[in-house]
This record gives sequence, C-alpha cells and structure tokens, in this order.
Amino acid sequence: MVKPYFNSGDIQLFHDDCINVLNSLPANSVDMIFADPPYFLSNGGISCKAGKMVCVNKANWDKSQGTEKDFEFTQNWLKACRRVLKDNGTIWVSGTMHNIYQVGFALQKLNFKILNEISWFKPNAPPNLTCKYFAHAHETVLWARKHLKIPHQFNYEEMKKWNDKLSPSGKQMRTLLKNFIKESCQLSLCNSHCIKKTYCKIIKAILKLQGF
Ligand SMILES: C[S@@+](CC[C@H](N)C(=O)[O-])C[C@H]1O[C@@H](n2cnc3c(N)ncnc32)[C@H](O)[C@@H]1O
Repeated sequence: MVKPYFNSGDIQLFHDDCINVLNSLPANSVDMIFADPPYFLSNGGISCKAGKMVCVNKANWDKSQGTEKDFEFTQNWLKACRRVLKDNGTIWVSGTMHNIYQVGFALQKLNFKILNEISWFKPNAPPNLTCKYFAHAHETVLWARKHLKIPHQFNYEEMKKWNDKLSPSGKQMRTLLKNFIKESCQLSLCNSHCIKKTYCKIIKAILKLQGF
C-alpha cells in the first residue's frame, strides 16, 4: 500500500506516480475522478506573463515524448483509473488541444462513454506573441463514465443552481463556461497556490453536481 503524504479526516494526499497509487486501491471502489494531467506544453515555446516574453517550459513531466509515447502514457493512467472506478463511476479530465484529443481517443479505446466536452473560457488568457495564431483562450474538460450502458449519478437540480454568464442559474447548464466559480478563477491568476484553490472549488462543485 502506498503511504499518504498528508492525512487528515477523510482527506488523503499521495505524492507518487499516479499509477502506483491507483494500483494500490481496490478495484471498483471510486465514485469520481478529476484529473488535470500534463498538457505536454513544455517544448521550448514562448508565452506572455505579466507583459513579458517567457519560456513556457514547466518541467520534464510536461515535455512531449512524441505522439506515440504521449498516447501510451495517457492510456496507461486512464487504464489504471478505469480499474478503480465503480461501474457507475465517472471521470473528468482537463486539458488543451495539446493533450485533449489523445485523452478523448484513449477514453474511447478503453470503452468509456464520453458524456460532455466542456469549453472553459479564460478571460485573461495571454496574447499570442507570434501573431500567427489565435490566442489560446479556453481549456477543455472531458467528462466520461466508465460504462457505455450503466447510468452515472447526476443531480440535475444542483446543476440548475450553477451560475455562469452563458448559462444563468435556473436553466440547464450549457457546455460553455465563462465565469464559472468567478472568484476562484480570478484568484487562480495570482500564483500557483491559488490555482490549487481553483481546482479544489471545481472538484467540490462537481462532487455536489454528481450527488456525492
Ligand atoms: C497540469 S499539472 C496539474 C496542476 C494542478 N491542477 C495544480 O493546480 O497544481 C499536471 C500535474 O501532473 C503531475 N504529474 C505528472 N506525471 C505524473 C504521474 N505519473 N503521476 C502523478 N502525477 C504526475 C505533475 O507533477 C503536475 O503537477
């Protein structure tokens, strides 16, 4: 059994390769997974931060190893997720065009059913410094369930309580999010600690949405 790095109440954090951690959990035991995997962005490109040109490289874990190897990596961790998910379990995966097509294809190959593809608009996205492309201004979140036929849990009334500029409260939420969790989205721009806060809020909201 992999030892938790942090343990408090019903929260445990692990600092290890996710496949080791997932393989140490019993099969069919997890209700929902939210994954924010590497986007394979750190390949020497440039970006704009606080008005300055900066290198996009984050770390080795974010470097592309080429399409085949990146896909193998993606498929391996998704396979490990699939084993631990309950039959009615679901997975949410965020990404950008650099990784999300691989995630989608791996989900399909592993017999997940893709439920939604959500576009999450980033109002403060940096400009594209090359001036040869559109500025990347959204992230994609894929939501899939383990089984093609077994229904997932969903709290429809809770979904209608969500509030977003493009899908106001009281109506069905649409797959375009503009100011979802506005406060935390703004916070996320200040530093990496705040980014973690954003993800905590998103995960909490999704858990409620699915009735957990
Ligand atoms: C896109 S970032 C996610 C950032 C996160 N949402 C946050 O707010 O800190 C991808 C993360 O995956 C982690 N990672 C990369 N390979 C991993 C692996 N094999 N097992 C577990 N984590 C891994 C990296 O360390 C990095 O923190």
